[in-house]
Amino acid sequence: KRVAILISGGGSNMLRLVETMQAEGYAAPVLVASNDPGAAGLVKAAAKGVPTVAVDHRPFGKDRAAFEAELLKPLLAAAPDVLCLAGFMRVLTPGFVTRFAGRMLNIHPSLLPKYPGLHTHQRALDAGDAEAGCTVHEVTPVLDDGPILGQARVPVLPGDDAEMLAARVLTMEHQLYPAVLRRFVAGDRTPVLL
Ligand code: GRF
Repeated sequence: KRVAILISGGGSNMLRLVETMQAEGYAAPVLVASNDPGAAGLVKAAAKGVPTVAVDHRPFGKDRAAFEAELLKPLLAAAPDVLCLAGFMRVLTPGFVTRFAGRMLNIHPSLLPKYPGLHTHQRALDAGDAEAGCTVHEVTPVLDDGPILGQARVPVLPGDDAEMLAARVLTMEHQLYPAVLRRFVAGDRTPVLL
């Protein structure tokens, strides 16, 4: 299976996916694309020998469809079987999402359906939650919705601030996403629960 990964920044989740695919051969990373030419993840992907491309979203302003039409060119050229969003911070139109219906995954740093959207860790802290975590789900036109393919839970500890909680969750993201992708490309939709 050919896997393309979309990033916006550091790409730590992308890197774990690439490393596990290269180490275990359960799929092949064919492209890492970013909406930010300065994304540090692009350098990490290139260092692993994965083809990269940056399509800067800024020249397109609010015209999401025009940005996506540009992004689709290298993406379709790479002919991925699966598209993984990993720290990708742009909202995608239903038109784009439906092109990859049933084969597009995203990782979100909360225990969905709680806290879709941004600032998930602060919201969990403000709510006094005893647990937090991350979710890998199939991407559908509704933001941070879609069938859950995996979740990982972490405790919220006394004295936690958003950064401390984010770091604890990120560690679990790096375990969850590869575990889900491994199953997904094998056609197994059984949720991974960590
Ligand atoms: C992190 O906040 C992570 O929780 C979320 O995207 C952000 C960046 O992740 N999934 P990455 O290091 O770019 O994968």
